[in-house]
Amino acid sequence: MVLVTLSLLVILVATFWLYNKHKFSYWAKRGVPSPPTIPFLGHFTETMSTKQGRWVFDNEVYRDYNKNGLAGIYAFYSPILLVCDPEMIKNIFIKDFDHFTDRRVIQSPCEEDKCMNDMLSNINGEKWKTLRSVMSPTFTSGKMKNMFHLVCDKADALVAFSLAEAAKKSSVDMKFNFGRYTMDTIASCAFGLECNSLVEEDPEFPRKVIPFFDMGIQRMIKFILFMMAPKLFKILGLYLALEETDFFVSVCEETLASRRKGTKRGDFLDLLLEAQAEEVLTNPSKKQVLDDDAIISQSILFIIAGYDTTATTLAFAAYLLAKNPEAQHRLRQELQDVVEQHGGITYQGIMESKYLEGVIFETLRLYPPAPWLERKCTKDYIIPGTNVTVNQGRYIQVPVWAIHHDEKYWPEPETFRPERFLPENKKNVTNYTHIPFGLGPRNCIAMRFAQMEAKVGIAKLVLAADLKLSPGKEEIVLSTGGFLLKPEKELFLLLEPLNEE
Ligand code: HEM
Repeated sequence: MVLVTLSLLVILVATFWLYNKHKFSYWAKRGVPSPPTIPFLGHFTETMSTKQGRWVFDNEVYRDYNKNGLAGIYAFYSPILLVCDPEMIKNIFIKDFDHFTDRRVIQSPCEEDKCMNDMLSNINGEKWKTLRSVMSPTFTSGKMKNMFHLVCDKADALVAFSLAEAAKKSSVDMKFNFGRYTMDTIASCAFGLECNSLVEEDPEFPRKVIPFFDMGIQRMIKFILFMMAPKLFKILGLYLALEETDFFVSVCEETLASRRKGTKRGDFLDLLLEAQAEEVLTNPSKKQVLDDDAIISQSILFIIAGYDTTATTLAFAAYLLAKNPEAQHRLRQELQDVVEQHGGITYQGIMESKYLEGVIFETLRLYPPAPWLERKCTKDYIIPGTNVTVNQGRYIQVPVWAIHHDEKYWPEPETFRPERFLPENKKNVTNYTHIPFGLGPRNCIAMRFAQMEAKVGIAKLVLAADLKLSPGKEEIVLSTGGFLLKPEKELFLLLEPLNEE
């Protein structure tokens, strides 16, 4: 009996071992290097590790296993191709985009999740293509210009609040303040809501937003159950949407109703309504993609996609300026000249401030909030110049952080040098090696808005105060959980008022 049990065990272990060997030889058979795997998991634990950020693992693979621009990893038994070469990235994201139009999405069968199911970032194929083309005119430079004054109002509140805090406290948590600034800006631009979250005691808007970014244990379990058994999930009456979604839905519904009566602010809601009218006009017989429900979904998406990313960028930028006083001085000089020339902070002035642009771009190079990009292959594709085929349904990923820190493209990659992006130096930047907003037709739709928001926030702050590192808090600790690259905790800075606009 013991012998039989032992033999069965040996057979079982051997079968498991052989199965793993077979599954994890996918990349070796194609001549693509891959790091050692863990049975069953592949590299899943490394990519999801909370001990170190995902970008640390990506960087190791990029440096040690990248051969001819490609490396292979496995999420369980599923092979994922890491594309590291800028030309290959261009081909996949731009030139041959029709093979890679999709991203990983979560489509829930539950009615309560309709709002999430309709978000631009969470749909694929023709539905995405149509919605993206209807929404794209909303994000042109001209439309951004009309929203400039809304953003400026919020940046003024950010400065006033931060200076008032600096007068009371030895150091100010700028991660918090920038978070409230982006929150107020989104409330104003995407919901038509004037919320003063930097002033009010217990503001409602942030209270409703925060749960979207809080992946507590209960929510995590729900997600895992949903991924494993979506039908059972529905039968059990579960859904992924948060209760707080109702708040945003009703704010949007009320605002849409008042806009239809003629109130206009030039914000995203107005623009989406314009896009909706345009869609009906140009395609009266076709099923409308941007109906009211879809507008509400996109407004909520703007919070999810725009809040943490922009707040984090601002926090890193302020930290880097405090750490590099010469760069801060040069930026202030440029801004003072611009203010003198334009009579204040204007859209035109901000667009002309090339060092300011360099500061934001260099911040995004050192700390890209999205440290990797992903596409799903929709049609079999042979990577040009190789015999590696990406099959339909497989994923490719781009290690953004590793490319942004590669000395081959960025001499002294860890040094903060905004000059890299000045017009006269742009020729030294290799194409497709600075990709914080992704690239191609499915890049960040709100890239211009995000840049404007970040530039205005930093410009107003640097004109009003000298930013200094807080003693004992000179080094920033990065959060290792979650998908975004951001500071782990507060970001304390000293703010010395300059008494000049
Ligand atoms: C500094 C701030 C931001 C950064 C670094 C950033 C970065 C990104 C990245 C990397 C992607 C994926 C692109 C790709 O796969 O090629 C993306 C997508 C997206 N972003 Fe942003 N983003 C920022 C701010 C915003 C803001 C403020 C909004 C909304 C107001 C926004 C809305 C979106 C949307 C809707 C998508 C999905 C586009 C699609 O699937 O067609 N982002 N963003």
